[in-house]
Parts: sequence; structure tokens; C-alpha cells
Amino acid sequence: MRLGGWVHRSRDLGGLVFLDLRDRAGLVQVSFDPGTAGQDVCSLAASVGSETVVLVEGVVAERPAAMRNADMSTGAIEVRATALRVAGPAGTPAIPVARGKGEQLPAEELRLRHRYLDLRRDELQRNLVLRHRLLQRTRRFLSDAGFLEIETPILTKPTPEGARDYLVPSRVHPGEFYALPQSPQIYKQLLMISGYDRYFQLARCFRDEDLRADRQPEFTQIDVEASFVGQQDIIDIAESMMSALWQEGESPFPEQRVRRMTYADAMERFGIDRPDLRYGLEIEDVSDVFRAAGFVVTRTALDAGGRVRGIRVPGGAALSRKQVDELEAVAKSAGAVGLLRLKRVNGVLEGPPAKFLSEGAADALGLQEGELGLYIAALDRASSPALDKVRQEVAQRMRLVPPAVNEFVWITDFPMFEQAENGSLTAMHHPFTAPHPDDVGLLEHEPWRARAQAYDLVLNGTELGGGSIRISDPLVQSRIFGLLGIDEATAQVRFGFLLEGLRAGAPPHGGIAFGFDRITMLLAGATSLRDVIAFPKTTAARALFEGAPSPVPVEDLLDLHLHLESESA
Ligand code: AMO
Repeated sequence: MRLGGWVHRSRDLGGLVFLDLRDRAGLVQVSFDPGTAGQDVCSLAASVGSETVVLVEGVVAERPAAMRNADMSTGAIEVRATALRVAGPAGTPAIPVARGKGEQLPAEELRLRHRYLDLRRDELQRNLVLRHRLLQRTRRFLSDAGFLEIETPILTKPTPEGARDYLVPSRVHPGEFYALPQSPQIYKQLLMISGYDRYFQLARCFRDEDLRADRQPEFTQIDVEASFVGQQDIIDIAESMMSALWQEGESPFPEQRVRRMTYADAMERFGIDRPDLRYGLEIEDVSDVFRAAGFVVTRTALDAGGRVRGIRVPGGAALSRKQVDELEAVAKSAGAVGLLRLKRVNGVLEGPPAKFLSEGAADALGLQEGELGLYIAALDRASSPALDKVRQEVAQRMRLVPPAVNEFVWITDFPMFEQAENGSLTAMHHPFTAPHPDDVGLLEHEPWRARAQAYDLVLNGTELGGGSIRISDPLVQSRIFGLLGIDEATAQVRFGFLLEGLRAGAPPHGGIAFGFDRITMLLAGATSLRDVIAFPKTTAARALFEGAPSPVPVEDLLDLHLHLESESA
């Protein structure tokens, strides 16, 4: 037989030489015996360094029982070589590909700089194979369900998804710019208006925003839109698609329907609109307990219209003062002024606020023996994000997160708008989202109270995707633009093509988009999107291997009618 691959490891036993040969399918041991292969071939085998590409001829044979390797899927056999050729010499690799058990990976920056080598690592190979399978499964699922795959432009107009745009200057139109799409949102709505009533796309999206482990500046969405549908139809199709993908990823998916929770409920009970439901630690409102107490911290917050809310940590009374101080630091980093602590030990309530509470009030807290209560007295706007962070931190530290559990939840009834301190409104999802039918009346006088027909799918605290039923009435769309402070002239410049389309006979329509990289990351058991994207960017939005972004010659800028400030200064 003939084999080609990379030398993963080599061992020279003085005469007998072994090479572990690697390709996409895995590893196989090749043995070089002077008796079979000749001395020259064995000497050559002994001289090749790791990561060299070699071509081998030989025969497959069972390994002697004592030499079998149970850790290797091909560990019962080996290839006894008769010939060897070096096809691709390799210098000393900048980072090792083969690793011994428990050996640490090189620093990520170094791995990203030498991505071609890191991509040879079995974990990344497995992740990219899984990504391929999930892409194919998505296509098959949606195509079988009657959705058409349609590509939309990359050089386009700004899309309002809340991030900054990447801009591309036009050479032929001085002073004008394309934007890279933050999503295909407007195009997919136009496709509905044009009668392509079931659309999907594995869409590349570009967002210039602060990056985290689960955000990349360029990423892929499973983008879906359908006509003559309501929220339930989109949820149905999205749920079936997720079930297919989780089956492909061999990870559990709920047998019953995915549970639902309103936005208001999620914020009240978990302080966030993407709650991790793998553990309890639900937030409780204990304002009433503190109402009669003369404790200045809670008194001030309650008088200012705030509440006292917190979580009860079973067994938390055993945490040291230092550990609880660390939890307080987490709360403070999320904007809280402090974290009140109370615990019940030997039946007695301990902690700074304890002496201000009557016996009845202390009991009403519901703290059981050994429990620690962690409370924040503040406006919800400050306490919710802090309690969310504390809840997550406690779950990690107390090891309350069960392994291999998938808790999916649909969050529904999002508000239409977010209101800034100065009263101005921004779209919570995007400005094309339809109001909840029961709340249309609120748009006139109390728009900030209106709910939207918007929904997100959340898994274990990660937002997998989100969508909405869209506005299909051009008058309603203009009105929403008005509420968002987008005047008619601006609306015409930015979204004229959508408004024109809406006036040309628009069906009721809605859709959703899922973060495909996030889905792959979760199914691969990876902790960063960088581990499921072949050539990702760093959190500073740099491509270390290619070296992008990079300066361009001044002449190229002049062609684009651009001047750098530092040069013109
Ligand atoms: P949204 O902005 O919520 O909705 O995006 C949908 C999903 O895309 C993923 N996502 C990201 N993944 C990686 N890196 C990023 N920077 C990033 N930003 C978003 C998330 C998110 O849930 N047009 C609407 C969808 C619609 O209304 O149909 C949209 O883009 O998983």
C-alpha cells in the first residue's frame, strides 16, 4: 500500500525506526526494519524531522501483542515500510503539533500566528469536520423544508443591528462608501416582498464591536425568513432545525417542546435576558423584609424607588469572608455599590443587616440553616446585571453547574425599545420589529412599555439566535422610525429601498438568525469561537497569521480619495 502524510513523531531504536504518520483520518505507525526496507531507507527514516511530508510504500501487518497501543485507533496494526520519499521537507516547527499527555498548548497568540500548524492539531481538525457536518445538515434541513438558499450582497448599505459598520471606500464614486452587512436583514425582508416566501442563507456578517470569546468581527449566521407566518411558526421551524443540529452534534436536545419565558420574567428571576437554567439560585425580591428595618443602606435604596433583591446560596454560610468579598468584587465590577450578606448558622441570622431585622422579618427572608443570602439594594437597572454576574460566579465556585445538560429556553415578549436616561428610545432588537398586537395602543403615549413580537433562543446562558415578526405596514414602519428619532428624510436615505418595497405589496413576514459559530462552539465543547473558525481574529480584531489589518501604500489611498490625518497634518 501507499501512504502520504505528516511525520507526527519518530523513534529511532538503533536499527529499527518508527514514524507515526498523520493525515486527516488520524495516525498510523510505520515501522522501518533494515531487513525489509534496506539500510538506506531506514537511515532516511531516522533523519526526517517532525511535520515533514513523506510518501511511504509498505504492507499492513498486525503488531506483535506486546506492541499494541490501546490509545490509538490504529494501535493494533502498523505499516511495514519498503520505500520512503520526502515529499515536503519541513523546518523545525514554530509550535509543536504532537503533544504528550497533559502537555500544555503553546500560548494562543503564538498558535494564531502559526495557524497552519495549529490547524493540524486533532482538536481543531475535529472541530472543523463538525462545522462542515453542521453546515451540510443545516442546508439539507432547510432545503427539505422548502427554504431557498439565496445569497445577498456583501458590498451594501449600513444595516442597523446595533454595532459599528465596516466601511469600504468606493474608488469610482469619490467620498462614497459601501458598508459590509451586519446581517442580511433588509435583503431578506425584500425577498419576502418579492415573493420568495421561504429564504435561508449561511450568511457572513461583519460587526465592528467590542469582542469577547463568543463574538468575532466576522461571523456566520443561519439566516431564515418566511412569509405568511406568525411567531409560533418561526419558533416551530427553528426548534426542529436545532433538534436536527443537536442530533448531528450528538448532544441532548429536549424531547418535549423547548420551554418559554417572557423577558420580564427572565429579568425578574435571573437579572438577564439569557438566563442559564442549569442551576437554581433564582433572584428573590426581599424588599418587604427590609421595609420596616432602620438599616440605612436598604432604607436609602427603597426610598429612591429601588428594591432589595438577592439569591440564597445553599451551603454558602461555609464560605470564608475573603470568598464573599470576592463575590462582592464581582457585583461591584458589574455596577453594584455593594453586596449585603446574611447567613444562618446554628439557627441564628448573622451579618451586618441582621440586627436591624425583627425576628419575623428575619424568618421571612427564608434563609435555611447553612445558607448564605447575598442581596443588592438598588434600582433594578443596577442590581439585575450585578445579581446575574454573582449568580454565575456562585454557580461556578460552588460547582452547581451539572455537566452534559442542555437547558434551552425561548425568551419572548421583549420590549420594543430601550430607553436612555435622557428619555430617547433605541430599538431593542432592530427597527423593523413588529409591536405586540396587544401593545400597539401604547405606542402613542407610553412607547417604552410596548412589547415586541421578538424572541431569542438561549442555551445554558448563551444567546444562540434571535428574530422577530416584522413590520409589513409602511405607515407603522414610518411611525417606529419616528419614535426612534429617525426623521423622514434620514429614513428615506437609510432605508428608502425597504420603505419603497413595503409600499409595493408586502406579505406578513418574520424570521430569525442563529449564530452558527456559537452553535458549533457549543456542540464542539469549545470555549472560544476561535476554536471553530479556520482563520479567526483575535479579541483585538487582528488576523495574526495573515497580518491584517495592515497599512496600504499612500497611492492606493489616493486612488480611493482618502487621506490619513497623520499624513495630511
Ligand atoms: P442578532 O443581531 O441578534 O439578530 O444576531 C443573531 C445571532 O447572531 C449571533 N451573533 C454573533 N456571533 C458571533 N460574533 C458576533 N459578533 C455576533 N453577533 C451576533 C448571535 C445572535 O443571536 N437580523 C437579525 C436576526 C433577525 O431578526 O432575523 C440579527 O442579526 O448568536
